Amino acid sequence: MTYTEIKGTGSYTPSKVLTNEDLTKIVETSDEWITSRTGIKRRHIATDEYTIDLAEQAAIKAIQNAGIDKVDIDLVVVATVTPDHYFPGVSQLLQARLGLGKIMAFDINAACSGFLYALEIVDKMIKSGAYKTALIVGAETLTRLTDWSDRNTCVLFGDAAGAMIIGTSETDKIKDIIIGSDGDVNSYLICDNVELKNPYENDKSTQDHIHMNGREVFKFATRIMPQTVRDLLERNHLVLDDLDSIVAHQANERIIDKAARDLNYPLEKCFLNIHEYGNTSAASVPLAIDEAIRSGKLKRGDTFITVAFGGGFTWGGALIKY
Ligand SMILES: CC(C)(COP(=O)(O)OP(=O)(O)OC[C@H]1O[C@@H](n2cnc3c(N)ncnc32)[C@H](O)[C@@H]1OP(=O)(O)O)[C@@H](O)C(=O)NCCC(=O)NCCS
Repeated sequence: MTYTEIKGTGSYTPSKVLTNEDLTKIVETSDEWITSRTGIKRRHIATDEYTIDLAEQAAIKAIQNAGIDKVDIDLVVVATVTPDHYFPGVSQLLQARLGLGKIMAFDINAACSGFLYALEIVDKMIKSGAYKTALIVGAETLTRLTDWSDRNTCVLFGDAAGAMIIGTSETDKIKDIIIGSDGDVNSYLICDNVELKNPYENDKSTQDHIHMNGREVFKFATRIMPQTVRDLLERNHLVLDDLDSIVAHQANERIIDKAARDLNYPLEKCFLNIHEYGNTSAASVPLAIDEAIRSGKLKRGDTFITVAFGGGFTWGGALIKY
């Protein structure tokens, strides 16, 4: 039996910071409204960097932190909804920039659950015996999908990247992963692709931005997150007390707070960095895990659950011994 583990993590955020105060000059909002509804105070935004640039910086740190030789990496998966091109993928450009040789590299899109999806894919590929060491990255420049005149959404999002090296282990560390999706036929959380063009009309396509029914997304999130945590615990014969921490997708502090209350799990044991970055979609989970590790809140030997939800609708959770 091949087991897997987190070998190392890294993250990167652009240096340009957009505060709630800055946003009051762009849309009709207030620091009080944003803070009380979401917990967000600031978000980092990319003004002269692209998704590949954020991904590269996070990946370099994860490789250093894992203490591996980059030639050992035989698989790259990047989760993103904001690739710089339809093709080549961020993953393939990243492979070239890092000089990883002619290995398998591909992008996936599962919105804010993308990193959990990537983890599930590489975990099973390594456990199959076909691959040994994977680089997975969640990287986003969501600001390019943001409608800066829509106060319902523009206050929520930011740009970031988080990366992880996943490799083989002698003991069972990435213990279990749950993944799910349920087609959002009501378009509660949607960003359209560019419009269809045809040679008869030759219209120029235009880029859409994020549309959201906040209340429906809130309801979905606060149902699916506790459910995923409960399912992971139950099928591994564990109880909440066995967890040192929960690291949830940072979409809204109130969502995490409600999920924690429903579970009867102390909010103090849930890692939070949403105040600094807002919702960074697929980058949110690896950024939070990396910061939890660097701040000492997550230590080697700790058992934690990471859980996410997002557009699609998609969701995922993983039970991990770090
Ligand atoms: C978006 C969200 C923060 C809104 O919070 P809420 O508690 O549902 O908002 P409320 O119902 O209390 O308030 C809505 C009102 O605030 C207004 N409002 C919206 N954004 C605002 C802003 N930035 N500043 C001030 N007022 C705002 C709305 O126009 C609305 O006004 P109205 O009642 O006059 O029409 C919340 O629904 C949410 O977090 N949903 C999930 C979003 C999410 O996680 N998305 C990403 C998933 S990966």
